[in-house]
Parts: sequence; C-alpha cells; structure tokens
Amino acid sequence: MTIDYRLLSNKNAKDNALILTLPAFFEAVFTASEGKDEGQLIGGLVSGLLETTATNDLLISVAIDLNATSTATSTSTASNVIKGCVLFSRLVFTAATADKPGKAINMMLLAPMAVATTAQKQGIGQRLIQFSIQQMKQQGVDCLMTYGDVNFYGKVGFEPVDATLIKPPHSLAYPQSWLGQSLSPQPVTAFVGKTTCVRVLNNALYW
Ligand SMILES: CC(C)(COP(=O)(O)OP(=O)(O)OC[C@H]1O[C@@H](n2cnc3c(N)ncnc32)[C@H](O)[C@@H]1OP(=O)(O)O)[C@@H](O)C(=O)NCCC(=O)NCCS
Repeated sequence: MTIDYRLLSNKNAKDNALILTLPAFFEAVFTASEGKDEGQLIGGLVSGLLETTATNDLLISVAIDLNATSTATSTSTASNVIKGCVLFSRLVFTAATADKPGKAINMMLLAPMAVATTAQKQGIGQRLIQFSIQQMKQQGVDCLMTYGDVNFYGKVGFEPVDATLIKPPHSLAYPQSWLGQSLSPQPVTAFVGKTTCVRVLNNALYW
C-alpha cells in the first residue's frame, strides 16, 4: 500500500468526490471500534462539520491509498481510496487578560480522526497528524487542541492541558483527555483563556 498524505479542498471536483465519502468512512471505522451508536454519532458529526463549517474554519487531511486511486472511477469506488482522515476546526480563543496586546491566537481543534480498520497500527495515524501539523505551521496556526487518549496523541506531541488554563468549550467528562500542543515558539502553557468551537461541535454529546 502506497500512502499519500494531503489536504482536500472543497473547491476541487475530484476532492469533492472523496469528501462525500467521509461520513460513511468515519461511521464504518467507529462502528467497528466503538459500536453502532458511536458510529452513527461520529458519522453525523462529520456530515455536520463538512456541511456547515466555513471553509476557512475547517481543514480536511487524508491518507490516500495511491494504488486504489489508480483504479477508482466513481464515488462508489472512491470509498476504498481513503485510509485515514482527520478534521481540524477553528477554536476561537479569547485570552484571559487583555493587558498583553498582540496578534490573535490562531487555534484549531483536532476532531474527529479515523484510520481504516484494516489499516490501523501501521503508523498511518501518526504520519497523518505529523503531515497536518506541518501544513498548519505553514498556515500560521499557533496552537492545536484535542480531546482524546494521550496514549495515542502523546506520540505526536500532545500533552495534557490544564482546563483552567485553556478552558474547553464544554465541561469535560474526562478532563485528563484535554490535550494540546503549541505550534509556535511559545509553550502551550503560555495560552490562557477560553475557547469556543464551531457550531456542530457545540454539543455536550461530544464532550
Ligand atoms: C486511533 C487511531 C486513529 C490510531 O491510528 P493508527 O494508524 O492505528 O495508529 P498508529 O499506527 O499511527 O499508532 C499506533 C500506536 O498508537 C497506539 N494507539 C492506537 N490506537 C490507540 C487508541 N485508540 N488508544 C490508545 N492508543 C492507541 C498504539 O498502541 C500504537 O502504539 P505502539 O506503536 O507503541 O504500539 C485508529 O486506531 C482509529 O481510527 N481508531 C478508531 C477510531 C478512534 O478511536 N479514533 C480516535 C478518536 S477521535
């Protein structure tokens, strides 16, 4: 399997055919790992994110199987092409103190992420995040947050973040899973304030 890591753009027709397959891709992966209800929940979340989030507030990063791409001719076969996907959406960050004027903090939230069930534990997930981080550094993102398992995300630079320093959009069922990493010269502890997520994620179900 030859994997290419890249961003998808909804302005590109070929990319759009792949984007249309993403809700079903997430639903299948999460159904296999967490059960039917979670599969439907995450599939619905991905649909909502893709349909309602402004282009500038969403980054779609995928791992594509190049061998499958050469034989894919339609949307139905395009579903075999995606081996991994991670979505990043805008977190509006409001600094706790206004006494340090400077540029606004550019913050993104990683959620959700999935690697095809048959392609897991081969390093694709870690390489997909590393690729995405390089892209976001070039785009001037200062800080990346996620809500997940530190045993996985800790491998790609995330560390637990005190929810009283960077306040999450919702109260957390698992505060130890609130993770972050700085993509700027400042440490993640330098960011103190509260976050607001995009509309679809603004639902206690996901937190
Ligand atoms: C979690 C997930 C994205 C990881 O992608 P992957 O390509 O399988 O991971 P990699 O091969 O890059 O990394 C594997 C390492 O991460 C760890 N890891 C993988 N999935 C993990 C999980 N769910 N929890 C904790 N650690 C995990 C493995 O133990 C492994 O560590 P090792 O190399 O020391 O053995 C993928 O397994 C997946 O899609 N799982 C189902 C959906 C999910 O849980 N998504 C994340 C929540 S949003």
